[in-house]
Amino acid sequence: MEKRVPAVSIRNVSKSFGRVQANSHVSMDIYRGEILALLGENGSGKTTLMNMLAGIYFPDEGHIAIDGREVVIASPRDAYDLGIGMIHQHFKLVDVLTAAENIVLGLKGRLDLKAASRRIREICDAYGFEVDPNQKIYDMSVSQKQTVEIVKVLYRGADILILDEPTAVLTPQESDKLFAVLRNMRNDGKAIVIITHKMHEVKALSDRVAVLRKGEYIGDRPTAVTSEQEMTNLMVGRPVSLNIERPAPHDPKPRLEVKDLTVRNEEGIVRLDHVSFTANSGEILGIAGISGSGQKELLEAIAGLQVTESGSVTYIEDDGRREELIGKDPLAIQEMGVALSFVPEDRLGMGLVANMDLTDNMMLRTFRSGHSPFTDRKGPRHVAESVVEELEVSTPGLGTPVRQLSGGNVQKVLVGREITSAPTVLLTAYAVRGLDINSSYTIYDLINRQKEKGVAVIYVGEDLDVLIELSDRILVLCGGRVSGVLDGGTATKEEVGLLMTKLGGDRNE
Ligand SMILES: Nc1ncnc2c1ncn2[C@@H]1O[C@H](COP(=O)(O)OP(=O)(O)OP(=O)(O)O)[C@@H](O)[C@H]1O
Ligand SMILES: [Mg+2]
Repeated sequence: MEKRVPAVSIRNVSKSFGRVQANSHVSMDIYRGEILALLGENGSGKTTLMNMLAGIYFPDEGHIAIDGREVVIASPRDAYDLGIGMIHQHFKLVDVLTAAENIVLGLKGRLDLKAASRRIREICDAYGFEVDPNQKIYDMSVSQKQTVEIVKVLYRGADILILDEPTAVLTPQESDKLFAVLRNMRNDGKAIVIITHKMHEVKALSDRVAVLRKGEYIGDRPTAVTSEQEMTNLMVGRPVSLNIERPAPHDPKPRLEVKDLTVRNEEGIVRLDHVSFTANSGEILGIAGISGSGQKELLEAIAGLQVTESGSVTYIEDDGRREELIGKDPLAIQEMGVALSFVPEDRLGMGLVANMDLTDNMMLRTFRSGHSPFTDRKGPRHVAESVVEELEVSTPGLGTPVRQLSGGNVQKVLVGREITSAPTVLLTAYAVRGLDINSSYTIYDLINRQKEKGVAVIYVGEDLDVLIELSDRILVLCGGRVSGVLDGGTATKEEVGLLMTKLGGDRNE
């Protein structure tokens, strides 16, 4: 058999930012007709390496060849001309323009939006996308925006596609749709690189995996012959335990009592429908549900960030004193020890100030949490230090602006900040979104330690396997109603899945 010429050959490529060596002598190949999963811990240099193919960064040393011919990629335009298109971790669309306008933005020649719309429709039909060329970006869901980004690079003729954590922001259903499209493209002979931290996606989608560790290329494997454990060990460089503990709750007592909570959105549609449950101290209550089943409204209502229609949320002190949270302002609720860490789809969009450094971002939190008896008094710098140390945030220093950290490291800061605030109730949603597998298990561990300290944890997560392993009890939401409460020790994935789609779940269960 003749040897295939790689679509992309990277040889001996290095890149550093100041003292940080993001990539060091990387050599790897990417082939057409193949989906390659690029793996590595947060900060291992995946995005940086791919940004050099996309013309965003220029290598300090090394060579890049396309179809066997050495090239210089000095700008995004060079990359487009070579057929390389990248979908970034943070989208780069203009909100006030339509899909079609965004797609043709910056292209040379006369602008014929009608013709553009036609081509867009053709591309969509060919691969199975759904895009309305005339829809404005600000009216779109995250998944629709991502589709526009993909169509945009295809429109420019890309046949080498790089997707940087495309599913971090998608629901499982949306991910499945995306994967179907990517398989169509692969079968069409395109070269596809996907960066993801979700091992089940790697298994389901990719043909081959390549691993980076601390900026170096470690090796590759056909997906069919590797395992989650082997991939993790390669990424981390030592054997890592993929077990989640579930210590028995110690002396659980009611901490938060939610009764008949009902919430409508701005359009008057019911998002929470008479939701009732109790969260105990020293216990993890998992919340399962298809995305958009009321998880966000529930956590926000408890934290005082959501207008409620009826019902109550009662905080119960150690001495049995009861205090109603509905009607209190979010700061007052926070001062009672209720911490909310909601990791948004756009991680930089909420909760952190990109231009501020780590210590200042910690200060935002400690300053706001004021003088409650549970407050960490050791000061923001100390909090920053402990977050960096406990979560192994890779950063040149505490003075580094958050925007210069890798995506996953930004997130560790976001979650770590709430956890280290020493809360009595920890509301956490999508805590491991975008985190590498090792850090995810670190977070599960931290959450367990909070539980052991007597914190009442309410954990909203996407990964059902993890949710079941971690939670003492699982409350399932379906269409804003509680469709069931299961024991974490005995629940199965099928049971939870069934309750997640149980239409018209009975409110009195
Ligand atoms: N523009 C920049 N300025 C300074 N340092 C940077 C810059 N971009 C990346 N880095 C650093 O280079 C290293 C590699 O970052 P990169 O974003 O490539 O990691 P990654 O593997 O994509 O991580 P993640 O999984 O968290 O997205 C990190 O230490 C990061 O902080
Ligand atoms: Mg990245």
